[in-house]
Amino acid sequence: MSVRSIYPGNHLKGEITVPGDKSISHRSVMFGSIALGTTKITNFLKGADCLSTIGCFQRMGIEITEEAGSILVHGRGLRGLSAPSETLNVGNSGTTTRLMSGILSGQSFTSVMSGDDSLNSRPMGRIMTPLNQMGARIRSIHDNYCAPLRVEPGELHGIHYQSPVASAQVKSAVLLAGLYADSETSVTEPALSRDHTERMLKSFGAEISSAIHEDGCATACIRPCRELYGQTIQVPGDISSAAYFIAAGLLVPGSELLIKNVGTNPTRAGILKVCEAMGADITYLNCQNMDSNTSLTGNGTAASIAPGEPTADILVRYSQLHGTAIGGSLIPTLIDEIPIIAVMAACAKGTTVIRDAAELKVKETNRIDTVTENLRAMGADITPTEDGMIIAGGSPLKGAYIKSYLDHRIAMAFAIAGLTAEGETTIEDSQCVDVSYPEFFATLECILN
Ligand code: S3P
Repeated sequence: MSVRSIYPGNHLKGEITVPGDKSISHRSVMFGSIALGTTKITNFLKGADCLSTIGCFQRMGIEITEEAGSILVHGRGLRGLSAPSETLNVGNSGTTTRLMSGILSGQSFTSVMSGDDSLNSRPMGRIMTPLNQMGARIRSIHDNYCAPLRVEPGELHGIHYQSPVASAQVKSAVLLAGLYADSETSVTEPALSRDHTERMLKSFGAEISSAIHEDGCATACIRPCRELYGQTIQVPGDISSAAYFIAAGLLVPGSELLIKNVGTNPTRAGILKVCEAMGADITYLNCQNMDSNTSLTGNGTAASIAPGEPTADILVRYSQLHGTAIGGSLIPTLIDEIPIIAVMAACAKGTTVIRDAAELKVKETNRIDTVTENLRAMGADITPTEDGMIIAGGSPLKGAYIKSYLDHRIAMAFAIAGLTAEGETTIEDSQCVDVSYPEFFATLECILN
């Protein structure tokens, strides 16, 4: 077990980059593996989750090499994977498990996926139901709708799936299986979740379209595919990792931080909207690929999918924040950032209400519980609710012993909370940040004065 001590920070100054986007890194390896030719990935995130994805595809015969800092995936086509001789180890990664389920459903061999205790307790019924409706043969080995999952060959048919949750993992699993189906497949979700799969599959050559309906539901539609083709992918910095330093810059008096090359895809950028609503001083510089579909403020009827991912440099300055209300279609665009948003809310004046976020209960930990327990340990006034939390902010946080429960986002969010607290904060099992941000503590040290 590793523990880290954090002390209140003097003003934070400097220019940093954050590691490559986790969602895009996973997809680059997966889509590159089932494409023909070589996919070259620069700024790939070498976090534990994405390394699990690499390991799984290597076990299925894909050669993945590194050259001059880029990852090269030597793809073998839609039907070029080979049967793994052992269980595919998905580690802590829900994205690996759920997206790969869609791909494995279309293969002519049997495979088994299993992960760590947290992963093996997360709900997999949400992908088993639509995939099995398509003709896949996925079974939960312990009959509890959790991994380990066994996937046997099946004949896939196109369906229209009405997903009860706005989840990119569910949407992506169904769309990936749709590549192998005999007719068109579509997924409608209650609000648009991150759209990297749609953007990236389109650039790999898939026929895919999407639309947002008047009621806010979003549909993505894919046609059966003959082959995908390898691409060159420049992975933008991960806004979910940048979020910790955005918060640090806003919360520690006197700070000014420039975070370079951050992905600002609007299906991911909800944290920026929340910061603005809380009164944050944020400036966007050097904006790339921002068009009408990708503006931070536009509601973007994404009838056509923009090819490149938008990016910007984000300049944050210390600000006196105030509470806000967060819910509805904003939630899927910031779901992974809620732990750090809760920390900002505890430091802000007034009350913040987070609702429509019951999905927090099925992340790496139940994040309604783990955020509540740890913010209370720091003396904050937080009330958990069925689908979120209510935080009455403004009283100074006290240093505390923080239990990360091996959840990387809890460890990082409370390390930032520690910078603003009185006295020492200790983060238990701090090494879990390796899942998405191995350099997190090193970067933090660079900007501390
Ligand atoms: C992810 C989707 C989200 C997110 C996860 C990564 C992805 O999960 O929480 O960290 O890469 O598709 P859900 O789709 O289940 O909300």
